[in-house]
Amino acid sequence: MALYICSKCGYGSASWLGKCPNCGEFNTFEKKEEPSETRKKGIKKSKLTSFKEIGTKTKARIPTHVYEFDRVLGSGIVPGELILLSGEPGVGKSTLLLQVLKDVKTVYISGEESAEQVKDRAVRLHVNLDNFLFSDDLQVEGIIEGINELEVSPEVIVIDSIQTISSVNIDSPPGSVSQLKEVTNTLIGFAKRKKIAVIAIGHVTKGGDVAGPKTLEHLVDCVLAFEGERISQFRILRATKNRFGTTEEIGIFQMGSNGLLPVTNPLVFLEDDSKHPSVGKAIVGVHEGNRSVFFEIQALSAPTPFNNPRRVVKGVDFNKVLLLLAVIRKHLGISFDRYDLYINVVGGVSVKSPSSDLGIVAAILSSIGNKPLPKQSVFIGEVGLLGEIRKNPTDLKVQEEARRLKFRSIYSPSNISHMKDLKKIIVPS
Ligand code: TYD
Ligand code: MG
Repeated sequence: MALYICSKCGYGSASWLGKCPNCGEFNTFEKKEEPSETRKKGIKKSKLTSFKEIGTKTKARIPTHVYEFDRVLGSGIVPGELILLSGEPGVGKSTLLLQVLKDVKTVYISGEESAEQVKDRAVRLHVNLDNFLFSDDLQVEGIIEGINELEVSPEVIVIDSIQTISSVNIDSPPGSVSQLKEVTNTLIGFAKRKKIAVIAIGHVTKGGDVAGPKTLEHLVDCVLAFEGERISQFRILRATKNRFGTTEEIGIFQMGSNGLLPVTNPLVFLEDDSKHPSVGKAIVGVHEGNRSVFFEIQALSAPTPFNNPRRVVKGVDFNKVLLLLAVIRKHLGISFDRYDLYINVVGGVSVKSPSSDLGIVAAILSSIGNKPLPKQSVFIGEVGLLGEIRKNPTDLKVQEEARRLKFRSIYSPSNISHMKDLKKIIVPS
């Protein structure tokens, strides 16, 4: 039986189709024959080896000496790994790599910017380019041949961006799913053989819904997400997948006229807005890796003109918000059926920790009750399905940090055991 494959997105179908149901392109289906009998006869029996007989070849990591970057990867770059650095256009991905790789022997492949543009930026950032080689050739096989001919192998190859690179083996245009997969697989094979790390930049749009980087996530060793809004100066670097380290650490940077600077202050995401109204605003404290960080959550609930109320959530998990709304309805008897609800994390960053639940609930209650939460208060705690506030081992550390930072009221499982206790702080009308 022949299988027909869409050359744009890789979608498979048993019969030929004029229009791909997955990507919507026309006339992209090509016939892929089953392996012939003679090819099947070429099957090679695999040899199974005990792990005791297998040595490890772990080479030392390459530290970049930018602590906020190294901590996210787990003390540096592993030779031979393929890292996908994803983020919205303009968030600062190229700037970040230029700055963190200044002491590492790097080949920089740029399909986004010309050599002059990259050089101008490096000069502005006072990055010494002695360790960099540059190319704007965008064919993966050619790039590999060029690097093979170098006398001294680089430690890292930067691909800026993976959407601009193509392979001779695929006909579809750069950036299509079949190209992205082929290019990435070719780079992975090369990186592993030569023990050179590859950092590939991939663009995502606001919704994170571009097929590109998303489809590559399972192929690569590490996925770094660079988050933040262009209008805000703060950025978070987060590993969403890491085969050689934890995914718990975050790196915080501040974008300024001299590029990105590492940030250690846990309060950077809070704006001094004592003059602003604070209905619908809650501060949450969460533990990320080795440190506590504080974020501002904003909620807005407004009567809806629609039959289906709108739920717009940015920075926290959408399904988590739906779950919290169900818990509020069940345990506090407050329904949002006639209200639109908007949730946002200030600064364009996201909060993953479940310890932010209590603060999200507090912000929602504050908005629907039209009552501000106590000044300089912070909320720490995970909300369970029974409405209970669950203890998280790291919460105590966040509480300690909140006390050190002189928050006036700290709400956590130590003084709030059930969501109903929130009524003591805020009574929705
Ligand atoms: P860039 O690294 O080009 O983003 P990306 O590669 O993710 O598309 O960064 C672009 C933005 O960063 C641009 O809007 C200007 C800002 N920026 C600064 O604010 N200061 C700086 O020193 C640099 C180099 C960039
Ligand atoms: Mg760029």
